Amino acid sequence: MPSPADMYESMFVPAIFRPLSRHVLALAAPRLGERVLDLACGTGIIARQVAPLVGGEGRVVGLDLRPGMLAAASKLTVPYGAPIEWVEGDATTLDFAPGSFDLVICQQGLQFFPDPAAAVAEMKRVLAPGGRAVIACWRTIEHHPLWSKMAASEMRLMAAIGANASDAVAPFALGDAGELRAMLEAAGLRDVAIVERTVEVDFPADGFVRDQYVAYAAVMPQFVADPAAFDAFVAAVERDSKEAIDSFTADGRVRFPMPSHIATARA
Ligand SMILES: C[S@@+](CC[C@H](N)C(=O)[O-])C[C@H]1O[C@@H](n2cnc3c(N)ncnc32)[C@H](O)[C@@H]1O
Repeated sequence: MPSPADMYESMFVPAIFRPLSRHVLALAAPRLGERVLDLACGTGIIARQVAPLVGGEGRVVGLDLRPGMLAAASKLTVPYGAPIEWVEGDATTLDFAPGSFDLVICQQGLQFFPDPAAAVAEMKRVLAPGGRAVIACWRTIEHHPLWSKMAASEMRLMAAIGANASDAVAPFALGDAGELRAMLEAAGLRDVAIVERTVEVDFPADGFVRDQYVAYAAVMPQFVADPAAFDAFVAAVERDSKEAIDSFTADGRVRFPMPSHIATARA
């Protein structure tokens, strides 16, 4: 089995996170010479695209909690521009001085932090006055036609792999625009604006369920902690969700939309 982080990079990034990053970067608009933090960088899809945009005079830091993600990130090449510093750390307690960055980007990370409000306060603290925060979070699960059909059975099956029911739907936990706005404003960020952008994702149907969960284990390692329990979990999800998955499958591909909110704000 490929490592979860390698699977995340080879499967999730091209299908989901690179297409989403185009919308995020269009709103973030990194400029030459800027200092940019890619918070919860994963395998670094944002950081690698920002490096040429800020150029050799700029600074790019990719920070993530999981060493496996950073190991996968640091294997990939950056064609030119700012060198990228890969930093292991927790988004809720950042080890950077106040005002260290002109731009903080957090693509699909905030909803996984144990205390997202603390992380937003940290973003504000490490931004220079007037610096920008750009934060993407999937909309709530009822806006995700395939995942909402699969959620009830997934949540029932979570205990068998030693995970919490809420782990199945964690990606969608901060999908309410009002809640996201209130969190940013409570941290003292201003000019908060939230737009919706949708990625049309497309995966091979063969092995769809297993591959999804191996890649998701890059974020939620408990999914694959026990290989036998994981195999049984995959078989049960495949059985329970066959009809739902089939309804999104054509020509050997599973295709469905994934809508996201992208918030922009200033320190
Ligand atoms: C869905 S991935 C998004 C990764 C990346 N931003 C992208 O667009 O591909 C969520 C990331 O949040 C990271 N993460 C979870 N909790 C974290 C924390 N407390 N501090 C920093 N990173 C965290 C995970 O390790 C994972 O890489």
